Amino acid sequence: FVHQLADESVGVPELLPSPLRPAAEPALPLPRALYGWRPDAPSSGRANALGVDLADAPERAPLEAAVAATTVPAVPEAAVEAVGPAMQALRAAQPAWNATPPAERSAALRRAADRLEAALPTFVGLLVREAHKTLGDAVAEVREAVDFLRYYAVEAEARLAPLELPGPTGERNTLTLHGRGVFVCISPWNFPLAIFTGQVAAALVTGNAVAAKPAEQTPAVAQAAVALLHDAGVPAAVLRLLHGPGETIGAALVADPRTAGVCFTGSTAVARHIHRALAAKDGPIVPLIAETGGLNAMIVDSTALPEQVVDAVVQSAFRSAGQRCSALRLLCLHEGIADAVCAMLAGALRELVLGDPAALATDVGPLIDAEAHANVAAHVERLRGSARCVGETPRGPAAGPTHLAPVAFELARIEDLREEVFGPVLHVVRWQGDVAAVVDAVNALGYGLTLGVQTRIDGRARQIAERAAVGNVYVNRNMVGAVVGVQPFGGEGLSGTGPKAGGPNYLPRFCAEKTVTINT
Ligand code: NAD
Ligand code: ALA
Repeated sequence: FVHQLADESVGVPELLPSPLRPAAEPALPLPRALYGWRPDAPSSGRANALGVDLADAPERAPLEAAVAATTVPAVPEAAVEAVGPAMQALRAAQPAWNATPPAERSAALRRAADRLEAALPTFVGLLVREAHKTLGDAVAEVREAVDFLRYYAVEAEARLAPLELPGPTGERNTLTLHGRGVFVCISPWNFPLAIFTGQVAAALVTGNAVAAKPAEQTPAVAQAAVALLHDAGVPAAVLRLLHGPGETIGAALVADPRTAGVCFTGSTAVARHIHRALAAKDGPIVPLIAETGGLNAMIVDSTALPEQVVDAVVQSAFRSAGQRCSALRLLCLHEGIADAVCAMLAGALRELVLGDPAALATDVGPLIDAEAHANVAAHVERLRGSARCVGETPRGPAAGPTHLAPVAFELARIEDLREEVFGPVLHVVRWQGDVAAVVDAVNALGYGLTLGVQTRIDGRARQIAERAAVGNVYVNRNMVGAVVGVQPFGGEGLSGTGPKAGGPNYLPRFCAEKTVTINT
C-alpha cells in the first residue's frame, strides 16, 4: 500500500514561514519534526511497514548502540510528606524567576533544545527501554520535545512583551502577562518526553515555578529531562520533579494550597477527578488545562482512494501500538468502498511485524505494561464473541506477553463504541446516505480530539470539517503526529479544555494578566 514517510513532513514545509504572518512577528524556527536526518538529501530507505525511515540514516548505528547500552535508572518516589515543603520552596523561588526577563528564560529553553538534540541517542535509549517506543517513534518524540522548547522560547518573547493600549490624553495603559505562581504539571506515559517537556517548558518560560509529576511508568525519562533543563540554566529552585502514584503524589499536589494552576495530560476520568478536587478547594480559583482522551473517527466516502485510505488507517490506528490519544479508533466506511478497503486492510494487517521495539524491522512494540495489555485484551475478547473480525496481525515469534496483535472488528453502529480503547484495536462501521448524520453520530460520542476525512470532493471535506466538533481535522492523510507550530494540538468536549499545545494561544493560559493605568 502507498507509503508515507514517518517524519510527518509530507507537504508541510512550504507552510513556514506563512506569507500571512505579520512581518513584525519573529520567524519561528523550522520544527525539527519537519525535516529528516539530512534536510538536503532526505533518506529514501524504508525499514518497515509503518514507514520508519531509519534504514540508511547516518545516526542509525549510534542509536542502536545507545539503546543496547541503556539501563533504566531507578527513580526514588517522593513521600507524600515531601509535597508540602517542595511546594513551599517553589513558591518562595517563583518571584525572582518571574522577574527574570522573558528573553533570559527563553534562552534557557533554547540551550535545553540544543542539548537535547545533542543527547538524542541517550534519550532514544531511555524511550525505547523505559516506554517501549520503537526506534522511529523514539526519534520522533525527541524531535517533538526539541520543537516544543524552541517554539515556546520564540512565543514567550513575542507574547510576554508589554502591550501599550490606547487611552485618553494624559493616560497610559499597559497590559502585561506574568507567571501565576507554582504550576503543577501532570503528564502521561505515552509521550513521556515530549508532553512532559512541553508542559514544563510552557509553564517555566511564562514565569511560573513548576512541580512536575510524571507518569509512574516513565520516571527515568522525566528525570533525565529535568536534569537537562537544570543544566541548561533553569534554576533547580523553580523546577522540582515529584515522582510517585497519581492517587497520592498527584492528588497532594493538586490539593496543595500553593498550587496556582494545573496542567494535566492524561485520561478523561482523571481530568474529571482533578477538576472536582480543584473545585472543592478553599482559597483562590485554580485554573486547569486538561488535554485528555479521544474516540477518534475517520470518515471515508465512496470517492476516496482505497490505497491511500488503508495507508492512513494503518499509520493512524496501529503506529505506536495505538497508544496515542490522536489514534484512529472508529473507521466509518461508505458502503460503496467498504469491501475494497476491508480486503486491503486485512492484507496490510498481515504485513505488520510485532517485536522488540529496538529492532528496526519492528512495526508494533509491546503495550506499556501488563495492566494495559489485560484491559485491551479483554476488550478484544469481548469483540471476538460479538463482532466480525476484519483482519489481524499474526503474533509472530518475537511477540512477548505484553504485545497485542493489531486487529480490526466490524461494529453495527457508531454508538456501539463508547470508551477510548488505548491500544491497536480498530472498529469499522459502514454508512450510506447523508454524511452529515455520520458526523452527528461521531459528535454525539462526546469526545472531540482528531478526525480523519478521506474524499476527493473538496466541498464534502469542508462540510465535514465545519460540522465536526473536534480539535484537529486531517483530510486525505493520516491523523497522528501533529507538528509543533504547524498543527497546534488539542481537543474539546471529553477530550479537553484547550488551549492547543504547540499553538499560539497556549502560553497565555499559563499567565495572569495585569493592566496598569497611569494618569500622567
Ligand atoms: P492517566 O490519566 O492514567 O494518568 C495521567 C497522569 O495523571 C499520570 O501522571 C498519573 O500518575 C496522574 N494521576 C492519576 N490519578 C491522579 C489523581 N487522582 N490526581 C492527580 N494525578 C493523577 O493517563 P495515562 O494512562 O498516563 O495516559 C493515557 C491517557 O492519556 C489516554 O487517555 C490518552 O488519550 C491521554 N492522552 C491525551 C493526550 C492529549 O494531548 N489529549 C496526549 C497523550 C495522552
Ligand atoms: N500529539 C500527538 C499526535 O498528534 C499525540 O499524535
